[in-house]
Amino acid sequence: MSRSDAWRRTAQERGADVTLTVDGEPVHACAGETVATAMLATGTTFERDRTGAPRAPLCNMGTCFECVATVDGRPLTRTCLTPAREGLTIETSGRL
Ligand code: FES
Repeated sequence: MSRSDAWRRTAQERGADVTLTVDGEPVHACAGETVATAMLATGTTFERDRTGAPRAPLCNMGTCFECVATVDGRPLTRTCLTPAREGLTIETSGRL
């Protein structure tokens, strides 16, 4: 196996299809992906800053808090550290 093959993922290695609800809209993901990944893949916007400009994941490892949203009622949840699972509800419309 070459080095590039080691990083290649196949459809069989992905988790089961799950559906999240983001601001009332269904978002499809694979179980085990992060919520931030699912939101980015579907073009969902994240929280907005005080000027109304959209935020988006920056570090993708839990340090910048640019990806926060309310997940299942828990505010300021870092979506880059939250695994997607069936039925999660994410709200991004609030201001920080
Ligand atoms: S992207 Fe930085 S904390 Fe989530």
